[in-house]
Amino acid sequence: MTRPHPLDPLTADELTAGRAILADEGQLTATTRFPAVLPVEPDKGDAAPDRRVQYTLLDTATGQARDVVVSLAKREVVSSEDCGEGQPAYLFEEYDLAASITKASPDWRAAMERRGLADRIEHAFCAPLAPGFFGRPDETGRVIRSLTFLRDDESDSPWAHPVEGLIVHIDLTEQRVIRVEDEGDVPVPPEHGRYGDVPARTTLKPIEITQPEGPSFLVDGNEVTWEGWKLRVGFNAREGLTLHQISFQDRSVLHRASVPEMVVPYGDTAPGRFWISYFDAGEYLLGKNGNDLRLGCDCLGVIHYFPAYVADDHGHPVEIPRAICMHEEDYGILWKHTDLDGRAEVRRSRRLVISSISTIGNYDYGFFWYLYLDGTVELEAKATGIVFAGAAPSGTEHPHANEIAPGLFAPVHQHLFCARLDVAIDGERNSLVEVDVERVPMGERNPYGNAFTWKETPLRTELEARRHADPAKARVWEIRSAERTNRLGRPTAYQLVPRPSATLMAQPESTVHQRATFATRHLWATPYRAGERYPAGERPNAHPGGAGLPAWTAADRDLTDTDLVLWHVFGPTHIPRPEDWPVMPVDYSGFSLRPYGFLDRNPALDLPSGAADDHCSAHDH
Ligand code: CO
Repeated sequence: MTRPHPLDPLTADELTAGRAILADEGQLTATTRFPAVLPVEPDKGDAAPDRRVQYTLLDTATGQARDVVVSLAKREVVSSEDCGEGQPAYLFEEYDLAASITKASPDWRAAMERRGLADRIEHAFCAPLAPGFFGRPDETGRVIRSLTFLRDDESDSPWAHPVEGLIVHIDLTEQRVIRVEDEGDVPVPPEHGRYGDVPARTTLKPIEITQPEGPSFLVDGNEVTWEGWKLRVGFNAREGLTLHQISFQDRSVLHRASVPEMVVPYGDTAPGRFWISYFDAGEYLLGKNGNDLRLGCDCLGVIHYFPAYVADDHGHPVEIPRAICMHEEDYGILWKHTDLDGRAEVRRSRRLVISSISTIGNYDYGFFWYLYLDGTVELEAKATGIVFAGAAPSGTEHPHANEIAPGLFAPVHQHLFCARLDVAIDGERNSLVEVDVERVPMGERNPYGNAFTWKETPLRTELEARRHADPAKARVWEIRSAERTNRLGRPTAYQLVPRPSATLMAQPESTVHQRATFATRHLWATPYRAGERYPAGERPNAHPGGAGLPAWTAADRDLTDTDLVLWHVFGPTHIPRPEDWPVMPVDYSGFSLRPYGFLDRNPALDLPSGAADDHCSAHDH
């Protein structure tokens, strides 16, 4: 076994070895399953970390779950504890189990027959869905809900023909139906949702991306260097893509960056949808559902792929051969000026793109990190795939759902991502300042009325740092180094620049508000603690809420000159449209981290003009 770097993703050998250690120590039985297998990252300052794996083990016979940490070096279990409140993520086999339990249910079959759909049972798709948490006494354990969709055959798109108002509540441990809700009859939308067999247009000429001398990045294992940037690329089953130890010009910017949670709450009151609030990382695992990416399709140009290994339901390694794609992209112009005498200087922008895509049921999420030549870091989340829809008579005026195809109504919903940014601007000691552009009233300070200024508000504690974005004030959050100043004597800094997006729309009294409190603010900040990784807590599945960011930040810890972690919430609020059907064009959201006095001047003056004959530079005039 080759020795991986402490921040490297788990290897197939390590997953196999870790499972063998569990077996040797008698931790596994015939009914043990592996909802989540994650690398244990070394704590900061741990010079000789031991490679460890955290296994969430579920006994499907009893519903009991434990978190067991294995040391690969010592070949032993180093800790084992009960999972406590909330359920581990779903197993893939539980999706099949939920479907077979549904189809065997006499109540479900009776409902299908009553609706005249008996002949559609064979190909019906039973979508397994996290039920949220409502404290019902008959829904205390490991539960899931199943909604029914008709298909013409097994290859048919499963999302086009919802059977409205038919909800099956399932206890996965006891492998039984808790109850079937069958609310009224609405015609099943007839139009198919196929999109892969449309005859292709022939008008597009090829675009070839060629880099005859190869890419400008260097890769050594999982370490990447590119144009002043250096970082390590990571991946785990829960978050998917992670970035580590990001530096620019040999100065630290981020210790770690990832999207550890997201929530997709639905705004519909219908019995089949009011409870929907998927936590795609915590309930379903973004990394375990990572795509194997394809050259010329997902990625274009000279690509470096990183493989990743996740554990299957039985703890055995599964390779995602091209889990992470890395390539360079031309990005228009970086800077330009035409001088008074007509001479122009222009330089092209380029970015390093590191991306992964996860498919969770009907939706597909791309996470694209961009590093730019001017020191900017950006994350773009791409939501695509198929919108989730129910049925109503065509033409119905529905306050919470929009008709996107005849009789097919897609409810309003949000995709709220939470990025965890363990910042390290020129060292670990950083502080946080909110910067607003501010109007100045007419008077002595503003005699002509034209003047405006900016206001800096230090966010000194966790409660002060629970913030909303404010585009009308061009609000940004500045992370300042306590250890370094620039040539103007100011602390070196980066700014977190949000893009306009809504926070959680659900009411404070709702259960989703309790469970996804992280999504009620655009910004949270905490002092780094190794165990504080998931903004909705370790186990959001069937969890009553309150865990994660709201619990940690209630302590109101000090944030000045400390090892800061920022948590930034962003993402689209989606009122679906006809153009989103039958497959949705990408909806983009994200943010940027921009150097603000981190550098003494534009760091990209030395870019070559690009064109072979230098005609982008001044002297061709
Ligand atoms: Co959407």
